[in-house]
Amino acid sequence: MATGKSTVYFCQNCGYESAKWMGQCPGCHEWNTFVEEIVDRAGSAKGKKAAAEAQVTKIADIRADLEERVTTDMQELDRVLGGGIVKGSLVLVGGDPGIGKSTLLLQVCRNLSLREYKVLYISGEESLQQIKIRAQRIGAFGDSLSLLCETNLDTIREVINRFKPQIIIIDSIQTMYHENVSSAPGSVSQIRETTGVLMQIAKGDGIAIFIVGHVTKDGVVAGPRVLEHMVDTVLYFEGDRHASYRILRGVKNRFGSTNEIGVFEMREDGLQEVDNPSEFMLKGRPEDASGSVVACSLEGTRPVLVEIQALVCRTNFGMPRRTAAGTDYNRVNLLMAVLEKRLGLSLGNCDAYVNIAGGIRMNEPAVDLGIVLAILSSYREIPIDEKTICFGEVGLSGEVRAVSMAAQRIQEAKKLGFTRCIIPTVCMDSVKEIKGIEIVGVSTVKDAERSCAFVQK
Ligand code: TYD
Ligand code: MG
Repeated sequence: MATGKSTVYFCQNCGYESAKWMGQCPGCHEWNTFVEEIVDRAGSAKGKKAAAEAQVTKIADIRADLEERVTTDMQELDRVLGGGIVKGSLVLVGGDPGIGKSTLLLQVCRNLSLREYKVLYISGEESLQQIKIRAQRIGAFGDSLSLLCETNLDTIREVINRFKPQIIIIDSIQTMYHENVSSAPGSVSQIRETTGVLMQIAKGDGIAIFIVGHVTKDGVVAGPRVLEHMVDTVLYFEGDRHASYRILRGVKNRFGSTNEIGVFEMREDGLQEVDNPSEFMLKGRPEDASGSVVACSLEGTRPVLVEIQALVCRTNFGMPRRTAAGTDYNRVNLLMAVLEKRLGLSLGNCDAYVNIAGGIRMNEPAVDLGIVLAILSSYREIPIDEKTICFGEVGLSGEVRAVSMAAQRIQEAKKLGFTRCIIPTVCMDSVKEIKGIEIVGVSTVKDAERSCAFVQK
């Protein structure tokens, strides 16, 4: 192994390491992503000493108490974390600039400081005054929260040793640097090194650390995916800049399930939890409008009802226009092809715009049936009964396929006052016990069209 300083090239997208510059990364096939960085491998002598002292442990000797969790007093966040903050865990919170990452974590600090947890908020981006101004909008804080404006990791390490906090926030990882690495903060080797040190602190001292990571325009955490591999939990904070709600999505979690979402609303005084996202998403639904239907998607363990809108109209140019907002464009095209073939609709000369109202993204196949019915309703210009919801995956031969957790979805619809559910026939068995709501099983898109209670005007 080489010792001393050497020059290597890193792919800024995936962290692939190479001795020479390359145009295309063999790891992620991106072009022009290699950047020269200087790494110092002098530390390997220390490693040998540690290796001589390393011990193995028998599995029977390891204590496997259920890991202790600290609640953040924010149910939505706790759910995404898998039940609260785990001691010694490293959590990455990614998201676009200005989406509310600092605000969210400052609120966590507030809740924990009110319960006298020793919290250290380390900011490399904002001054103490700026943080104070934000804090004043959020409310009263406990005394056990301390702030530090610092970007040098060695200094931070010292402060942590002295201060001994229980929870640390690093805002953001792109501003931190380690003196051993000579490349600029935010580069792959800096991020890799600083995250490595933070991981040692988290695991070694049993401190939970939250790291803020900025996202590039392509939607990945800036710099390397390396960061995602290293941490225990990856959360993404997303949302439409123009809408007030924000969604926190768990993408990776070593201590809980992924795909779990938490919904928040950005208010004047910080982020407010949204306990019932379905109600929130369905706010302002049009009445008696064609092309609108409510579908149910499962986000993690929670069913969320969303309104799917479609607008189908004759195209004025040779080439029909199609767009999909909030769902997969290719999926919409595929479903339209299924409708054309199986129901004989002539969609070839129609423009079609499909939108999931509220701006939330839903990629679960269970919304297929919703998309199909919305398109049908708009095409025929007949509204669908507004107390009806639907879910089901649609296959290429027009069959409506099973989806998971049908009963939970129906319960959610019932809770919100819906009176009729259109579901895949194969799911009927699992929902026999549910009373008080009409359940209609459909096995093909033809069935769905027949049974979807088009309200005749
Ligand atoms: P911020 O947490 O600074 O975002 P990030 O750290 O992800 O870059 O969020 C800043 C935005 O949130 C800013 O546009 C102002 C807005 N905001 C509110 O609307 N209400 C509030 O109480 C606070 C603190 C911020
Ligand atoms: Mg910030």
